[in-house]
Amino acid sequence: MLTQTELKQNVADAAVQFLLPFLGPDVILGVGTGSTVDLFIDALAPHKDRFRGATSSSERSSERMRALGIEVLDLNQVPTMPWYIDGADEVDHALSMIKGGGGALTREKIVASVAQRFICIVDESKRVETLGRFPLPVEVIPMAREAVARRLAALGGTPVLRGDFVTDNGCQILDVSGLSITAPAETEALINNIPGVVSCGLFALAGADLVLMSTQAGVRRFERNP
Ligand code: A5P
Repeated sequence: MLTQTELKQNVADAAVQFLLPFLGPDVILGVGTGSTVDLFIDALAPHKDRFRGATSSSERSSERMRALGIEVLDLNQVPTMPWYIDGADEVDHALSMIKGGGGALTREKIVASVAQRFICIVDESKRVETLGRFPLPVEVIPMAREAVARRLAALGGTPVLRGDFVTDNGCQILDVSGLSITAPAETEALINNIPGVVSCGLFALAGADLVLMSTQAGVRRFERNP
């Protein structure tokens, strides 16, 4: 029986193997945040001379890549990228996701939006029928926190301020439990439109293009448009 860390390692390795044929001197990769991505960065580092560099969704990932000799580029220098690679907290059958357990959701959404394709790397514990068992992270501008919390409560959720946590953007996170998200894209648009919300952790309007999912029987592959 593989442990969750071993499952994460397997999918990190599989993502690197998948990407190798697409690497080249001009290729810039988008790299996300989290424990699975940490393993991905470590597995990617030995191939650092086969691509130009990476842009990242967090200080944490940027520091890790720099320490391993991967050049980190500012997103403003990067007009497009072929791939964005990141983990998720939940993924459903339509390849919509909840992300932001690590608090980097806004930068993840921004970097992902510049990439042509999103590769989601998860272990099988992240697969759900309906999104929402994992509390939905919503990044808020601090002065709007209570106003946003009331609007989220009106949607049926229970928002809880993530204590002692400030995002890379200087904002706060409300973790919203109790939402059964049966229409992820509509819910994402609804929450994004609340004044004071920076972004929410639903990735449904633009979900994953490819999910690599680590299971006890190996890494499975799910594609949006196979
Ligand atoms: C970071 O903000 C998140 O979106 C992560 O992608 C997510 O929490 C998955 O993290 P793990 O790979 O650590 O499970």
